Amino acid sequence: MTFDEWVCEVQTRTESALSVVLPSEDVEPIRLHQAMRYAVLGGGKRVRPMLCHAAGQALGAPSQMRDTAACALELIHVYSMVHDDLPLMDNDDVRRDKPAVHIAYDEVTGLLVGDALQSQAFIVLSSDVLDVYRQAALMRVLACATGSFGMAGGQAIDLESVGMQLSKTQLEMMHQMKTGALLRAAVKMGAICGDKMSADIESALDAYAKAIGLAFQVVDDILDVTANSTLLGKTAGKDKANDKPTYVSIIGLRASLELVAQLRRDAYAALVPLGERGLRLAQIADLVAKRIN
Ligand code: IPE
Ligand code: IPE
Ligand code: MG
Ligand code: MG
Ligand code: MG
Repeated sequence: MTFDEWVCEVQTRTESALSVVLPSEDVEPIRLHQAMRYAVLGGGKRVRPMLCHAAGQALGAPSQMRDTAACALELIHVYSMVHDDLPLMDNDDVRRDKPAVHIAYDEVTGLLVGDALQSQAFIVLSSDVLDVYRQAALMRVLACATGSFGMAGGQAIDLESVGMQLSKTQLEMMHQMKTGALLRAAVKMGAICGDKMSADIESALDAYAKAIGLAFQVVDDILDVTANSTLLGKTAGKDKANDKPTYVSIIGLRASLELVAQLRRDAYAALVPLGERGLRLAQIADLVAKRIN
């Protein structure tokens, strides 16, 4: 299978798995359930599911387990975007080529969609396709990545930092928390679904994920400046308009591009102990880095 075919397969199976785990639109409360499906289905690159499947496949994880973990990750990711777009956060009207949830519905619905998607992610992880050990391990990894030491904490720093000049260390920490943590969890969760791994493989995967997690948000910062809204499916130029510290605003565009190239090399280097099993993960590193080329 080529990488493009593999990506397509992950996207298709993620879409159908999500469609199954989301409450149906004809079940009360109808408007909330409609908005949840509106937010999650029919869009997005599904990068977190890709990382989860790639790591899982490298370690022989069964497809049903990978699908379950991938769904939970995507539900958390969409929840974070729905909240991120709210007027009290980034105030963005467009997401995935469509009006943001609070525009298509209203702000209260946006808030509740995020809350409900977060809960749904953990309901999904209680699935009996996973043994109890894996259920607990996956829930813990996902909760840690999502909470105050991960995504929510990163978003807090992001919002506190409006109009401020952060140091490179602070900026890296913010990005690792708000975005890197969930991408790292995606790799780890895929691996948990697979065979027991040695400490060396575990740390190789985490070093890879750490590089990709940061690269992903640096690329997002770059695209906010270099791409247009049609291409992005969300409002370009939003970071500057909101006076957000980003890699581009702090180290400049050129150094940001170089950093992405370096992080891609770091990701490749980290994968060496995996040998051929690391192929899909390496290809995902290319995919992330090539978004800016
Ligand atoms: C956007 O994430 C928000 C960030 C964490 C940078 P993605 O670029 O993965 O968005 P979708 O899922 O493809 O829409
Ligand atoms: C999003 O960062 C991080 C999370 C949602 C956790 P951004 O605010 O840069 O994402 P976009 O650019 O709106 O997609
Ligand atoms: Mg934001
Ligand atoms: Mg935003
Ligand atoms: Mg952004």
